[in-house]
Amino acid sequence: MSNPASPPAVDVLDERPGLTFPPGFLWGAATAAYQIEGAAAVDGRAPSIWDTFSHTEGRVVAGHTGDVACDHYHRLGDDVALMAELGLKSYRFSVSWSRVQPTGTGAANPGGLDFYRRLVDELLANGIEPWLTLYHWDLPQPLEDAGGWPARDTAARFADYTTLVADALGDRVRYWTTLNEPWCSAFLGYGSGVHAPGRTNGADAVRAGHHLMLGHGLAVQALRAARPAAEVGVTVNLYPVDPASDSPADSDAARRIDGLANRFFLDPLLRGSYPEDLVADLSTVTDFEHVRDGDLATISTPLDLVGVNYYSRHVVAAPVEGVEADPAPSCWPGSEDVRFVTRGVPVTDMGWEIDAPGLTETLRRVNGYTDLPLYVTENGSAFVDSVVDGQVDDVDRLAYFDAHLRAAHEAIDAGVPLRGYFAWSLMDNFEWAWGYTKRFGMIHVDYDSQVRTPKSSAKWYASVIRRNGLAAQ
Ligand code: FCB
Repeated sequence: MSNPASPPAVDVLDERPGLTFPPGFLWGAATAAYQIEGAAAVDGRAPSIWDTFSHTEGRVVAGHTGDVACDHYHRLGDDVALMAELGLKSYRFSVSWSRVQPTGTGAANPGGLDFYRRLVDELLANGIEPWLTLYHWDLPQPLEDAGGWPARDTAARFADYTTLVADALGDRVRYWTTLNEPWCSAFLGYGSGVHAPGRTNGADAVRAGHHLMLGHGLAVQALRAARPAAEVGVTVNLYPVDPASDSPADSDAARRIDGLANRFFLDPLLRGSYPEDLVADLSTVTDFEHVRDGDLATISTPLDLVGVNYYSRHVVAAPVEGVEADPAPSCWPGSEDVRFVTRGVPVTDMGWEIDAPGLTETLRRVNGYTDLPLYVTENGSAFVDSVVDGQVDDVDRLAYFDAHLRAAHEAIDAGVPLRGYFAWSLMDNFEWAWGYTKRFGMIHVDYDSQVRTPKSSAKWYASVIRRNGLAAQ
């Protein structure tokens, strides 16, 4: 921030009594490698599936790529200084597998590891706890060429890569997330194809989901072997799924989508089994022959924490008889004809409905699966921002954070062991298929000049962190 001592532009906290979070609550912000680093071909980094995808015409809005992004690779020191001014207690970043192990196999690339060593050292020097995500969607392209996540071997490769990172950074990094949002990797990457690698086959998407979770389990075991003191978890993106009406047909539609979006991951990871109704729903897509004896035990290897990414709620309805499902490739294999209904409530610039109570509901649901400590590892919103006189007064984003932190607090009041919250995102960045057209950052990035400008939400978040809490309403 330019002047951390100046009063926050929006500070409702002075006017109302406080809502305090538990002592030691881990206030953070999150990013991901491909979204911010740039330096795509520097120091030995080779292409990942996101390099290939973004360089393929028609895949990303306006042909945007992550080649330069926020140029964080070359601005690490300044960016960590901004985090320190915000008062972040923790920073969640991801490691680019293609930087560390450019071909996806074999020895580590020392140049790539050095970047993350410098980042971790800089964070620690500033009193910021590093939170390392091993996989935020950027599979080395050679592994995709060998079959990608639908191929079982990719899971073993992920465990090998994990060992390289654990050996290099495990003495300084306490918190580890294996996968970020395996639903997106599997069902957007191999189902609808709107994310890299852009394949469109329902059975492959289901296989990818399984092998991602298998890779997660093997990675947990690799981390335990290399670094017994590490705190290890996984991050899933969850949605409450409501039926549009109380008709049995709509309830069934909600059950099906809940199965694919939430229970496909929660049940294997935390209970060691696939839900029977989900397997039945997918019977026209796959016979699950890719699941081998012992896989579910590996997938459910005990964890230390669970990360939850929360953005919105789904409301769904049964197919209308006689109306054909959208012929576009779907991220809901076997349930392509379920209708997603909008409720007319306020939405973000992504068109995602704003639903803060859904966060309380989601955290309570995960707590029904496990007593493990939970962390919100992402939550945030895109809005159209404008820079006026060097300021970005992002009142909508600030209100989104405020409402969701209240919802998080409500979960804590209800007994959920929520230990931290990571805002998405520290700064504007490459929003996948939307390129640079969607801004989620608390810090504005001018992509021509790379100038960073903390928005009102950043100044407000700094005050929340300082007080370890929010104003009551
Ligand atoms: C999540 C992703 C993150 C970002 C936000 C908006 O699904 O994990 O990288 O794109 O959505």
